[in-house]
This record gives sequence, C-alpha cells and structure tokens, in this order.
Amino acid sequence: MADQQPVIAVRNLTKHYGGVKALTDAGFTLMAGEHAAIVGDNGAGKSTFVRLITGVEQPTSGEILLEGNVVSFDSPLDAREQGVETVYQNLALAEDLDVPSNIFMGREITRINLGPLSVLNHKAMRAQSVDMLATTGVKIQDLSEPMRGMSGGQRQCVAIARAAGFAKKLIILDEPTAALGVQETARVEDIIRGLKDRGVPLIIISHNLRQVFDLVDRIYVFRQGRIICSRLKTQTTPEEIVGLITGAIAPESLPAEEAVTC
Ligand SMILES: Nc1ncnc2c1ncn2[C@@H]1O[C@H](COP(=O)(O)OP(=O)(O)OP(=O)(O)O)[C@@H](O)[C@H]1O
Ligand SMILES: [Mg+2]
Repeated sequence: MADQQPVIAVRNLTKHYGGVKALTDAGFTLMAGEHAAIVGDNGAGKSTFVRLITGVEQPTSGEILLEGNVVSFDSPLDAREQGVETVYQNLALAEDLDVPSNIFMGREITRINLGPLSVLNHKAMRAQSVDMLATTGVKIQDLSEPMRGMSGGQRQCVAIARAAGFAKKLIILDEPTAALGVQETARVEDIIRGLKDRGVPLIIISHNLRQVFDLVDRIYVFRQGRIICSRLKTQTTPEEIVGLITGAIAPESLPAEEAVTC
C-alpha cells in the first residue's frame, strides 16, 4: 500500500565538523500522516539533523530517502521544490523585504510571465499572504513594512504561515514556539493540529514536553549526537523521556517492543 511507505527515512546519517561529531549513524522514519517530535539537550544534534535532511548542509555519510527514493538536496530551495518545507531555528527571512515578498520568495505569482520581463502580481500575493497569516492569528499592522522592524514572534508566524501554506510532503519546525508568547504559541499549536487533520506529515523540534505530548504520535530522543531511541507517545511518559534525554534511563533498559528503535 502506498501509505505504508515512509514519507522520509534516514539511514546511518552522520555529520562530523572536523573533530566534532554533531550526528553519528542516525536512523529515523516518518510514516504518512505521522507527526514526530525530536527532543534532546542543547547540542544533541537536533538542528544538525534538520540541516542535513533539508539540504542546508551535506552529510558526511548516510542516506536520506523521500517517499522511497534516495535524495540528495543541494540546497533548501531544492528541498522546497520537492515538497519539504522547513522553519529553521535561526530564521531565514529577508530583512529588507516586506511580508508578501518573504512569503512568496522563489515562487512569486506573476501577472505576465516572460522570464526576466515578468510582471509580478503583488495584489494576489498580498491577498494570499493575508489569508495565510490569518491561520496563525498574528497581528501585523502593515504587511508592506520590511521584516527588519518586526518582533521575533511576528517573524516566526510569517515563516510558519509560509511553510504550512506550501508544504506538500513534509513540514519541519525547529523550535517554532521558543520565541513566542502564550497566545501565539497556542495558535501555532492549532496550525500543527490542522496539518495533522490535513494529513501533512510533520517533524517538530521542541524542548517543551507538554507541547510534544499534546501534539505528536512519536518521540525521537537525541543524545550526544545520536538518536538513542524513539517512543510512541502512548507507550511512554514525560518522566521516561526526561530520563532518556539526561541519560538517567538507558534505552537498552526499555522493553524490547516495536516502539523502541535504537
Ligand atoms: N557549523 C558547525 N561547526 C562546528 N560544530 C558545529 C556546527 N554546527 C553545530 N556544531 C556542533 O554540533 C553539535 C550539535 O549542534 P546542534 O545545533 O545540532 O544542536 P541542537 O541539538 O540543535 O541544540 P539546541 O537545542 O541548542 O538547538 C554541537 O556540539 C555544536 O556545537
Ligand atoms: Mg538546535
């Protein structure tokens, strides 16, 4: 069955920066419609993993399969073109451009498409930006202002709205609510639930275990540059996850059931 195939699967993914082993032999699988969380201490390799599976950096070794095909994304744009949308921990928005230009960067809507002589359809991009942002509930007075003057929360909402609006195969969020207030966090969590309802697979990195247990099906634990195990949410507890993150619980001590992959 088509939906038995993982959306993304990663085998032996490794990234070393000189002597720094940021990620070693990582294995990861996300099934259709599944929402997974990545948890782990600072420096455990979470963002490195995201950069590798979205073409920001190339792995030292290992394999990435998207819907069963080995892929090698040359750039984040390459990943986006293949349906993988990402909100990075360090947001990549163009400071001097306004909100619609940021949302439609690289996929501008044109009125007349003649290559270099194309005429952009600003009205359509602005209208769609308003709709996309409405899903986040963020308030931005004037969309034509450059990003430079906007708050961390406003920037985050622009990036999340963009990713949620365009994601075709997979959406990856690296600590999407770390800079957000209570209300904005709740709205982002609602967007994530909406993506679940729409069947869009998602990977979220979060230090917030309440959020993780509220939102996802499966939790992957990173520790010291390795993915030490994954646990189905229904078969674990926040206490157990904390123990795995800190090393107080060894993954080998968990029951050898399907939910554990080490
Ligand atoms: N460009 C780089 N050059 C050298 N070392 C790096 C580089 N990027 C990351 N590292 C190192 O790799 C390790 C993993 O970093 P990474 O950013 O993946 O951690 P993280 O799990 O995302 O942490 P956090 O929760 O703080 O965001 C760290 O020891 C970090 O210092
Ligand atoms: Mg990180």
